[in-house]
Amino acid sequence: MKKALATILALAMVFALAACGGGGGTTEPAPAATTPAATTPAATTPAASGPKTYKVGVAIYQFDDNFMTLYRNELLSYFESLNNDTVKYDVTIVDGKNDMAEQNNQIDNFITQGMDAIILNLVQTSSADAAIDKIVAANIPLILINREPLGDNGDESYKGILDNAKVCYVGADARQSGTYQGEIIRDLANKGDINGDGKVSYIMIEGDPENVDAQYRTEFSVKALTDAGITVECLDDQIGNWAQAKGQEICANDLAKYGDAVEVVFCNNDAMALGAATAITAAGRTVGQDIYLVGVDALEECQQMVKDGTMTGTVLNDHIGQSHTAVDVTVKALNGENIQNYYWVDYVKVTG
Ligand code: BGC
Repeated sequence: MKKALATILALAMVFALAACGGGGGTTEPAPAATTPAATTPAATTPAASGPKTYKVGVAIYQFDDNFMTLYRNELLSYFESLNNDTVKYDVTIVDGKNDMAEQNNQIDNFITQGMDAIILNLVQTSSADAAIDKIVAANIPLILINREPLGDNGDESYKGILDNAKVCYVGADARQSGTYQGEIIRDLANKGDINGDGKVSYIMIEGDPENVDAQYRTEFSVKALTDAGITVECLDDQIGNWAQAKGQEICANDLAKYGDAVEVVFCNNDAMALGAATAITAAGRTVGQDIYLVGVDALEECQQMVKDGTMTGTVLNDHIGQSHTAVDVTVKALNGENIQNYYWVDYVKVTG
Protein backbone atom coordinates (compact mmCIF):
# COMPACT_ATOMS: atom_id res chain seq x y z
CA MET A 1 0.00 0.00 0.00
CA LYS A 2 2.95 2.23 0.85
CA LYS A 3 4.32 1.37 -2.56
CA ALA A 4 1.07 2.37 -4.30
CA LEU A 5 1.12 5.67 -2.44
CA ALA A 6 4.75 6.17 -3.41
CA THR A 7 3.89 5.52 -7.06
CA ILE A 8 1.00 7.98 -6.97
CA LEU A 9 3.22 10.58 -5.35
CA ALA A 10 5.96 9.92 -7.89
CA LEU A 11 3.50 10.37 -10.75
CA ALA A 12 2.11 13.49 -9.15
CA MET A 13 5.64 14.87 -8.97
CA VAL A 14 6.31 14.02 -12.59
CA PHE A 15 3.18 15.89 -13.63
CA ALA A 16 3.94 18.75 -11.30
CA LEU A 17 7.44 19.01 -12.75
CA ALA A 18 6.10 18.77 -16.28
CA ALA A 19 3.65 21.54 -15.47
CA CYS A 20 6.54 23.65 -14.21
CA GLY A 21 8.42 23.14 -17.44
CA GLY A 22 10.46 20.15 -16.25
CA GLY A 23 12.64 22.08 -13.80
CA GLY A 24 16.26 22.19 -14.90
CA GLY A 25 16.61 25.91 -14.43
CA THR A 26 14.35 27.29 -17.20
CA THR A 27 11.91 29.57 -15.49
CA GLU A 28 10.48 30.95 -18.73
CA PRO A 29 6.70 31.15 -18.27
CA ALA A 30 4.65 29.05 -20.66
CA PRO A 31 3.28 31.16 -23.51
CA ALA A 32 -0.34 32.15 -23.02
CA ALA A 33 -2.69 29.75 -24.70
CA THR A 34 -4.50 32.54 -26.46
CA THR A 35 -3.34 33.83 -29.84
CA PRO A 36 0.30 34.76 -29.54
CA ALA A 37 1.21 37.88 -31.49
CA ALA A 38 2.67 37.03 -34.87
CA THR A 39 5.77 38.99 -33.92
CA THR A 40 6.62 36.73 -30.94
CA PRO A 41 10.25 35.69 -31.37
CA ALA A 42 10.41 32.03 -32.25
CA ALA A 43 13.54 31.06 -30.32
CA THR A 44 13.24 31.53 -26.57
CA THR A 45 15.80 28.94 -25.59
CA PRO A 46 19.08 30.54 -24.53
CA ALA A 47 22.29 29.24 -26.03
CA ALA A 48 23.55 26.23 -24.10
CA SER A 49 26.50 27.90 -22.41
CA GLY A 50 27.84 28.09 -18.87
CA PRO A 51 28.23 25.20 -16.47
CA LYS A 52 25.51 22.63 -15.89
CA THR A 53 24.19 23.37 -12.41
CA TYR A 54 22.99 20.73 -9.96
CA LYS A 55 21.05 21.75 -6.88
CA VAL A 56 22.00 19.75 -3.81
CA GLY A 57 20.13 20.03 -0.49
CA VAL A 58 22.03 19.07 2.67
CA ALA A 59 20.06 18.65 5.92
CA ILE A 60 22.23 18.40 9.04
CA TYR A 61 20.65 17.16 12.31
CA GLN A 62 22.15 20.05 14.28
CA PHE A 63 24.84 22.62 13.47
CA ASP A 64 25.75 22.83 17.16
CA ASP A 65 27.77 19.58 17.18
CA ASN A 66 31.58 19.57 17.15
CA PHE A 67 31.94 16.57 14.88
CA MET A 68 29.15 17.48 12.46
CA THR A 69 30.62 20.98 12.13
CA LEU A 70 33.89 19.52 10.86
CA TYR A 71 31.92 17.18 8.63
CA ARG A 72 29.69 19.82 7.02
CA ASN A 73 32.54 22.29 6.47
CA GLU A 74 34.53 19.60 4.69
CA LEU A 75 31.46 18.55 2.68
CA LEU A 76 30.93 22.11 1.48
CA SER A 77 34.53 22.78 0.58
CA TYR A 78 34.85 19.48 -1.25
CA PHE A 79 31.73 20.27 -3.30
CA GLU A 80 33.23 23.70 -4.08
CA SER A 81 36.48 22.13 -5.23
CA LEU A 82 34.54 20.16 -7.85
CA ASN A 83 33.00 23.23 -9.49
CA ASN A 84 34.48 24.02 -12.90
CA ASP A 85 33.54 25.47 -16.29
CA THR A 86 31.25 22.60 -17.17
CA VAL A 87 29.63 21.68 -13.86
CA LYS A 88 28.53 23.55 -10.76
CA TYR A 89 27.08 22.25 -7.49
CA ASP A 90 24.71 24.71 -5.94
CA VAL A 91 24.62 23.48 -2.34
CA THR A 92 22.01 24.56 0.21
CA ILE A 93 22.79 23.45 3.76
CA VAL A 94 20.21 23.69 6.58
CA ASP A 95 20.28 23.24 10.37
CA GLY A 96 17.69 20.77 11.74
CA LYS A 97 18.30 22.19 15.25
CA ASN A 98 17.84 18.67 16.62
CA ASP A 99 14.10 18.96 15.87
CA MET A 100 12.52 16.35 13.60
CA ALA A 101 9.49 18.54 12.79
CA GLU A 102 11.86 21.27 11.62
CA GLN A 103 13.82 18.77 9.55
CA ASN A 104 10.63 17.42 7.96
CA ASN A 105 9.77 20.94 6.81
CA GLN A 106 13.25 21.35 5.42
CA ILE A 107 12.89 18.11 3.45
CA ASP A 108 9.51 19.27 2.10
CA ASN A 109 11.14 22.53 1.03
CA PHE A 110 14.00 20.69 -0.69
CA ILE A 111 11.45 18.68 -2.66
CA THR A 112 9.44 21.73 -3.74
CA GLN A 113 12.65 23.57 -4.60
CA GLY A 114 13.42 20.73 -7.02
CA MET A 115 16.73 19.62 -5.50
CA ASP A 116 18.58 17.25 -7.81
CA ALA A 117 19.97 15.28 -4.83
CA ILE A 118 19.54 15.33 -1.05
CA ILE A 119 22.15 14.51 1.61
CA LEU A 120 20.41 13.76 4.90
CA ASN A 121 21.77 13.56 8.44
CA LEU A 122 18.58 12.53 10.25
CA VAL A 123 17.53 14.12 13.52
CA GLN A 124 15.66 10.97 14.52
CA THR A 125 16.53 7.68 12.94
CA SER A 126 13.16 6.32 14.06
CA SER A 127 11.56 8.81 11.64
CA ALA A 128 13.69 7.58 8.78
CA ASP A 129 10.97 5.73 6.87
CA ALA A 130 8.66 8.73 6.55
CA ALA A 131 11.47 11.05 5.48
CA ILE A 132 12.95 8.54 3.04
CA ASP A 133 9.53 7.70 1.53
CA LYS A 134 8.91 11.33 0.59
CA ILE A 135 12.27 11.74 -1.09
CA VAL A 136 12.02 8.43 -2.92
CA ALA A 137 8.50 9.32 -4.09
CA ALA A 138 9.90 12.54 -5.52
CA ASN A 139 12.50 10.45 -7.37
CA ILE A 140 15.41 12.39 -5.86
CA PRO A 141 18.69 10.53 -5.11
CA LEU A 142 19.15 10.33 -1.34
CA ILE A 143 22.46 9.98 0.46
CA LEU A 144 22.00 9.29 4.18
CA ILE A 145 24.97 10.19 6.37
CA ASN A 146 26.29 9.81 9.93
CA ARG A 147 23.15 8.32 11.53
CA GLU A 148 22.33 4.94 10.12
CA PRO A 149 18.58 4.41 10.30
CA LEU A 150 18.02 1.32 12.44
CA GLY A 151 21.07 -0.36 10.91
CA ASP A 152 21.13 -4.04 11.60
CA ASN A 153 18.05 -4.03 13.81
CA GLY A 154 16.28 -5.83 11.02
CA ASP A 155 13.71 -3.23 10.10
CA GLU A 156 12.59 -4.61 6.77
CA SER A 157 10.96 -1.49 5.39
CA TYR A 158 14.24 0.37 5.82
CA LYS A 159 16.19 -2.41 4.15
CA GLY A 160 13.66 -2.39 1.32
CA ILE A 161 14.09 1.30 0.78
CA LEU A 162 17.84 0.94 0.71
CA ASP A 163 17.38 -1.51 -2.13
CA ASN A 164 16.09 1.45 -4.09
CA ALA A 165 18.73 2.26 -6.65
CA LYS A 166 18.88 5.91 -5.62
CA VAL A 167 19.22 5.58 -1.84
CA CYS A 168 22.34 4.78 0.14
CA TYR A 169 24.01 5.19 3.50
CA VAL A 170 27.55 6.55 3.91
CA GLY A 171 29.04 6.07 7.36
CA ALA A 172 31.39 4.28 9.67
CA ASP A 173 30.65 1.05 11.53
CA ALA A 174 30.28 2.16 15.14
CA ARG A 175 31.04 -1.34 16.42
CA GLN A 176 34.61 -0.81 15.25
CA SER A 177 34.97 2.45 17.19
CA GLY A 178 33.65 0.87 20.38
CA THR A 179 35.99 -2.09 20.00
CA TYR A 180 38.95 0.26 19.49
CA GLN A 181 38.09 2.18 22.67
CA GLY A 182 38.02 -1.05 24.66
CA GLU A 183 41.26 -2.23 23.08
CA ILE A 184 43.02 1.00 24.05
CA ILE A 185 42.25 0.17 27.71
CA ARG A 186 42.96 -3.56 27.28
CA ASP A 187 46.41 -2.80 25.90
CA LEU A 188 47.53 -0.74 28.92
CA ALA A 189 50.12 -2.42 31.17
CA ASN A 190 47.55 -2.80 33.98
CA LYS A 191 44.66 -3.44 31.52
CA GLY A 192 42.74 -0.59 33.14
CA ASP A 193 42.79 -2.10 36.63
CA ILE A 194 44.54 0.76 38.43
CA ASN A 195 43.81 -0.32 42.01
CA GLY A 196 44.60 -3.96 41.33
CA ASP A 197 41.31 -5.31 42.69
CA GLY A 198 40.88 -7.67 39.76
CA LYS A 199 38.24 -5.66 37.91
CA VAL A 200 37.98 -2.57 35.75
CA SER A 201 35.47 -0.15 37.26
CA TYR A 202 34.18 2.31 34.71
CA ILE A 203 31.60 4.94 33.99
CA MET A 204 29.97 5.21 30.55
CA ILE A 205 28.88 8.57 29.12
CA GLU A 206 26.56 7.92 26.19
CA GLY A 207 25.52 9.98 23.18
CA ASP A 208 21.94 10.09 21.90
CA PRO A 209 20.59 6.66 22.89
CA GLU A 210 18.52 6.41 19.70
CA ASN A 211 21.68 6.57 17.62
CA VAL A 212 23.40 3.29 16.73
CA ASP A 213 26.75 5.04 17.19
CA ALA A 214 25.93 5.45 20.88
CA GLN A 215 24.47 1.95 21.25
CA TYR A 216 27.36 0.17 19.58
CA ARG A 217 30.13 2.21 21.17
CA THR A 218 28.64 1.53 24.60
CA GLU A 219 28.32 -2.19 23.93
CA PHE A 220 31.52 -2.89 22.03
CA SER A 221 33.92 -0.88 24.20
CA VAL A 222 33.03 -3.07 27.17
CA LYS A 223 32.88 -6.22 25.02
CA ALA A 224 36.52 -5.71 23.97
CA LEU A 225 37.46 -5.96 27.64
CA THR A 226 35.28 -8.94 28.51
CA ASP A 227 36.36 -10.73 25.31
CA ALA A 228 39.93 -10.40 26.62
CA GLY A 229 38.86 -12.10 29.85
CA ILE A 230 38.85 -8.88 31.87
CA THR A 231 36.24 -8.50 34.62
CA VAL A 232 34.34 -5.22 34.47
CA GLU A 233 32.14 -3.26 36.83
CA CYS A 234 29.84 -0.55 35.54
CA LEU A 235 29.58 2.14 38.22
CA ASP A 236 27.31 4.38 36.17
CA ASP A 237 25.92 4.71 32.64
CA GLN A 238 24.37 8.08 31.77
CA ILE A 239 23.17 9.87 28.66
CA GLY A 240 25.17 12.94 27.72
CA ASN A 241 23.59 13.43 24.26
CA TRP A 242 26.99 14.03 22.59
CA ALA A 243 27.34 17.36 24.45
CA GLN A 244 30.46 18.65 26.23
CA ALA A 245 28.57 20.31 29.11
CA LYS A 246 26.64 17.11 29.85
CA GLY A 247 29.87 15.08 29.74
CA GLN A 248 31.39 17.39 32.33
CA GLU A 249 28.33 17.31 34.58
CA ILE A 250 27.97 13.50 34.52
CA CYS A 251 31.68 12.91 35.11
CA ALA A 252 31.83 15.46 37.95
CA ASN A 253 28.86 13.83 39.70
CA ASP A 254 30.32 10.34 39.32
CA LEU A 255 33.74 11.37 40.57
CA ALA A 256 32.11 12.99 43.61
CA LYS A 257 30.03 9.87 44.22
CA TYR A 258 32.47 7.04 43.47
CA GLY A 259 35.82 8.81 43.99
CA ASP A 260 38.91 6.68 43.41
CA ALA A 261 36.79 3.68 42.47
CA VAL A 262 36.42 5.18 38.99
CA GLU A 263 39.25 3.76 36.91
CA VAL A 264 38.01 4.32 33.35
CA VAL A 265 35.78 6.99 31.82
CA PHE A 266 34.33 5.81 28.49
CA CYS A 267 32.77 8.60 26.43
CA ASN A 268 30.85 7.85 23.24
CA ASN A 269 32.45 10.94 21.64
CA ASP A 270 35.24 13.45 22.14
CA ALA A 271 32.99 16.41 22.92
CA MET A 272 31.80 14.62 26.06
CA ALA A 273 35.38 13.50 26.77
CA LEU A 274 36.48 17.15 26.71
CA GLY A 275 33.84 17.86 29.36
CA ALA A 276 34.92 14.81 31.35
CA ALA A 277 38.57 15.97 31.18
CA THR A 278 37.58 19.26 32.81
CA ALA A 279 35.75 17.38 35.57
CA ILE A 280 38.72 15.05 36.08
CA THR A 281 41.13 17.97 36.54
CA ALA A 282 38.68 19.78 38.84
CA ALA A 283 38.45 16.64 41.00
CA GLY A 284 42.26 16.60 41.36
CA ARG A 285 42.61 13.38 39.39
CA THR A 286 45.34 12.74 36.79
CA VAL A 287 44.76 10.90 33.53
CA GLY A 288 47.32 8.15 33.01
CA GLN A 289 48.06 7.93 36.73
CA ASP A 290 44.86 7.42 38.67
CA ILE A 291 42.23 7.38 35.91
CA TYR A 292 41.88 6.66 32.18
CA LEU A 293 39.78 8.59 29.66
CA VAL A 294 38.78 7.59 26.11
CA GLY A 295 36.56 9.18 23.46
CA VAL A 296 35.77 8.90 19.74
CA ASP A 297 36.19 11.38 16.85
CA ALA A 298 39.81 12.51 17.24
CA LEU A 299 38.91 16.20 17.39
CA GLU A 300 42.07 18.25 17.04
CA GLU A 301 42.06 19.27 20.74
CA CYS A 302 41.73 15.62 21.73
CA GLN A 303 44.55 14.46 19.46
CA GLN A 304 46.73 17.01 21.25
CA MET A 305 45.52 15.81 24.65
CA VAL A 306 46.37 12.23 23.72
CA LYS A 307 49.87 13.40 22.79
CA ASP A 308 50.16 15.32 26.08
CA GLY A 309 48.83 12.37 28.06
CA THR A 310 45.74 14.18 29.38
CA MET A 311 43.56 11.75 27.46
CA THR A 312 44.35 8.03 27.21
CA GLY A 313 43.17 7.64 23.65
CA THR A 314 40.54 8.39 21.04
CA VAL A 315 39.35 6.92 17.74
CA LEU A 316 39.46 8.85 14.50
CA ASN A 317 35.94 9.23 13.09
CA ASP A 318 37.10 10.15 9.60
CA HIS A 319 34.94 13.17 8.70
CA ILE A 320 37.12 13.82 5.65
CA GLY A 321 36.74 10.30 4.26
CA GLN A 322 33.02 10.24 5.06
CA SER A 323 32.19 13.67 3.63
CA HIS A 324 34.23 13.07 0.48
CA THR A 325 32.58 9.69 -0.04
CA ALA A 326 29.15 11.28 0.45
CA VAL A 327 29.95 13.90 -2.21
CA ASP A 328 31.48 11.38 -4.64
CA VAL A 329 28.40 9.17 -4.32
CA THR A 330 26.11 12.18 -4.84
CA VAL A 331 28.00 13.05 -8.02
CA LYS A 332 27.68 9.44 -9.23
CA ALA A 333 23.94 9.49 -8.60
CA LEU A 334 23.61 12.86 -10.37
CA ASN A 335 25.43 11.40 -13.35
CA GLY A 336 22.90 8.57 -13.42
CA GLU A 337 25.50 5.98 -12.41
CA ASN A 338 24.61 3.04 -10.17
CA ILE A 339 25.30 3.48 -6.48
CA GLN A 340 25.69 0.83 -3.79
CA ASN A 341 23.45 0.63 -0.73
CA TYR A 342 26.25 1.13 1.78
CA TYR A 343 29.60 2.89 1.79
CA TRP A 344 31.75 2.31 4.89
CA VAL A 345 34.71 4.39 6.03
CA ASP A 346 37.13 2.92 8.59
CA TYR A 347 37.78 4.24 12.08
CA VAL A 348 41.41 4.54 13.21
CA LYS A 349 42.79 4.06 16.74
CA VAL A 350 44.62 7.10 18.17
CA THR A 351 46.99 6.55 21.10
CA GLY A 352 49.94 8.52 22.41
C1 BGC B 1 30.03 11.45 16.42
C2 BGC B 1 29.52 12.41 17.44
C3 BGC B 1 28.39 13.22 16.87
C4 BGC B 1 27.33 12.31 16.29
C5 BGC B 1 26.22 13.08 15.61
C6 BGC B 1 28.89 10.63 15.88
O1 BGC B 1 29.37 9.76 14.88
O2 BGC B 1 31.00 10.62 16.97
O3 BGC B 1 30.54 13.26 17.88
O4 BGC B 1 27.85 14.02 17.89
O5 BGC B 1 27.92 11.46 15.34
O6 BGC B 1 25.25 12.21 15.09
